[in-house]
Amino acid sequence: MPYRLGEVIISRETIARRVKEMAAKIAEDNGRDKGITFVGILTGAAFFLTDLAREMPEDLDVRVDFMSVASYGDGTKSSGVVRIFHDLKSSIEGKNVVVVEDIVDSGLTLSHLLGILQNRNPASLKVCVLLDKYERRKTEVNVDYCGFRIPDKFVVGYGLDCAGMWRHLKDIKYVIEE
Ligand code: IMP
Repeated sequence: MPYRLGEVIISRETIARRVKEMAAKIAEDNGRDKGITFVGILTGAAFFLTDLAREMPEDLDVRVDFMSVASYGDGTKSSGVVRIFHDLKSSIEGKNVVVVEDIVDSGLTLSHLLGILQNRNPASLKVCVLLDKYERRKTEVNVDYCGFRIPDKFVVGYGLDCAGMWRHLKDIKYVIEE
């Protein structure tokens, strides 16, 4: 195998603590009037979103929906043109939407996706990412909630994969190319 796991960059305890803080902030900013509709981007964000949603206060109207998208590219770089494989089950018109993504890298995928969702007339549209590789940004994306800013190195675990592997790790780790 050309790749192997490297050291832990963010431990499961640190992730859990930060997810709690993020949930509290999202609830404070959004919840009361129209509730919150989380839109998770499959597959990576499913892990983060299920933890995040369970940290939301019980008395808030919290909905969870998922979308599966792929960006056309040459396999390693995203082009920013997004194809929807699986769309949302419910309409987001008039809802307070928080898009949940595992990591924002060039920003191209998210920026194109936000354009699609904005056309569906939500009351508000915010972005929540667990990881931000800010050095790699090619297009500006307004990230409202960010878990951790990380350096430009490939990471896996807690939903993030490398060629389909290692999503199931509890900690986020670096990948070493052999
Ligand atoms: P971009 O922001 O359009 O360049 O693409 C973001 C997507 O690239 C994420 O949803 C991930 O699927 C993938 N990605 C970027 N960096 C990493 C990484 O370090 N580990 C795993 N996936 C990554």
